[in-house]
Amino acid sequence: MKSDKLTESVAASSVPRHVGIIMDGNGRWATKRLLPRAAGHRAGVKNITPVVTCALEYGVRCVTLYAFSTENKNRPQDEVSALVDLIRKRLKPMTRELIERGARVVFSGERDYFPDDVIAIMSDVENENTDKSAQVVNIALNYSGRAEIVRAARLAARRGEITPDGLERELYTSGLPELDMIVRTGGEKRLSNFLLYQAAYSELFFTDTLWPDFDSAEFTEMLDEFGRRQRRFGRV
Ligand code: IPE
Ligand code: IPE
Ligand code: MG
Repeated sequence: MKSDKLTESVAASSVPRHVGIIMDGNGRWATKRLLPRAAGHRAGVKNITPVVTCALEYGVRCVTLYAFSTENKNRPQDEVSALVDLIRKRLKPMTRELIERGARVVFSGERDYFPDDVIAIMSDVENENTDKSAQVVNIALNYSGRAEIVRAARLAARRGEITPDGLERELYTSGLPELDMIVRTGGEKRLSNFLLYQAAYSELFFTDTLWPDFDSAEFTEMLDEFGRRQRRFGRV
């Protein structure tokens, strides 16, 4: 685990094990520049590698990226097509760079929705690095927190194990570290169906910065803020 970037201001103990990022604000970023919304999504994708690299260098063990929600399918057809096309074109190059930096890439969400060639790309990416000890980049695609819980409950029931442990074993995040922090860019203060079960005791960090403008300096600010939070987990 690399931690060469660890500064005095961000002590090792304050590094969240698992950070979820709701990458919101691509559309507004583009509209502000009189560009089509798809240009905002392209800028958003470009921003993933630098921010995730920063997280990995600080020693964050897992980053979950909310890239496409189940509800996003209700957007106009041309925007949905542009998003699926972006996944088709950019997923492999983007993840290759992260895998080369020592990460393992996995996906959360209902992948059957995507065209066969996109599903094949996802499988290829997952098979590229199976190092179980690596830091993980978990990409949520066609993801719904509620659907994840229902699916997990069904699978747990099938095994006759409707207990917290039994259910957690069936979540997409099974085996990943506790979700310590959720970051949402773009100014909205809601979870929008992201990691609902896992968010039980997550810290929340909201920023008005639009996702394509969110950078490693602000990520570091978030880590500082995380270090100042007092987590009580119901105790005193
Ligand atoms: C987030 O940006 C990316 C996706 C939801 C795919 P938005 O597209 O929601 O951007 P805004 O919120 O409209 O600015
Ligand atoms: C959340 O953003 C989903 C992703 C970032 C992928 P949305 O833009 O879809 O959320 P709402 O619609 O503002 O709640
Ligand atoms: Mg949005």
